[in-house]
Amino acid sequence: MMVKIDLTGKVAVVTGAARGLGRAYAQGLAKAGATVVALDLSDCGDTVRDIEASGGRALGRRCDVGDITSCRDAADDALARLGRLDVLVNNAALFATLKTGRFDSLAEGDWESCMRVNVTGVWNCCRAFVPPMRERGGSVVNISSLAATYGLPNALHYTTSKAAVIGLTRGLARELGRFGIRVNAVAPAAVETEGMSQFFGDKKEDAVRAVVAGQSIRRVLRTDDLVGTILYLASDASSMVTGQTIAVDGGTVSL
Ligand SMILES: NC(=O)c1ccc[n+]([C@@H]2O[C@H](COP(=O)([O-])OP(=O)(O)OC[C@H]3O[C@@H](n4cnc5c(N)ncnc54)[C@H](O)[C@@H]3O)[C@@H](O)[C@H]2O)c1
Repeated sequence: MMVKIDLTGKVAVVTGAARGLGRAYAQGLAKAGATVVALDLSDCGDTVRDIEASGGRALGRRCDVGDITSCRDAADDALARLGRLDVLVNNAALFATLKTGRFDSLAEGDWESCMRVNVTGVWNCCRAFVPPMRERGGSVVNISSLAATYGLPNALHYTTSKAAVIGLTRGLARELGRFGIRVNAVAPAAVETEGMSQFFGDKKEDAVRAVVAGQSIRRVLRTDDLVGTILYLASDASSMVTGQTIAVDGGTVSL
């Protein structure tokens, strides 16, 4: 059977879509034919303009995934304007600006905000965007990380939050299967983005060298390396795949 990824007529929501990987996912989904709802704390104007310049369709809106009211407002607005929701990519995360350090030196406030955005944020978006999918089915793609599948030291708040995303994915997949809604996670290795540079700071070169040394395919990932997996999980090409975590890490961890 030939499988072509065609998302024409579908509406795909991407959180954290103002830059980096979220922007690449939004662009990829739009190229595959989906109308994209780009959400972020920051302005998504550049993402929307890029998509429209390539002939795609997108709406941008500010949304704080850590705030359920903000998520529900964004979902109501998207439904009112587009009439349906089919795909949710939970990509927004507190990552770039997190202060790292030994497990016993992390600030409690950083731990709490990391959980609020990276874990509660995924739950909030599922609570806001999934109910309208119940009629026709849909696909939720949660972004985890090599930090969880491998166990990144000195960032226990981030590592723990990304491990929680995997558990949430497995549990929610079992709840939503009967509605034809699939829930999967993607765990990227270090990917060249502004956020990754900010996260590692002056340790970036050493950190990336260490990550790449653990990969079977030894080059640092680019945002485009992730897009194919997102499209696959968003589309009917993966119609019997749910509850899974796909490592897109150049062959570091085998799940
Ligand atoms: N780049 C990497 O090396 C890498 C590796 C593994 C996993 N990831 C994950 O991929 C995702 C994207 O990474 P990136 O490198 O593009 O990061 P990034 O920091 O460049 O982008 C994250 C985006 O999320 C937005 N955001 C943060 N808090 C938000 C909130 N409360 N509500 C809405 N939006 C919010 C930010 O404004 C930003 O635009 C994250 O989930 C990250 O944890 C990244």
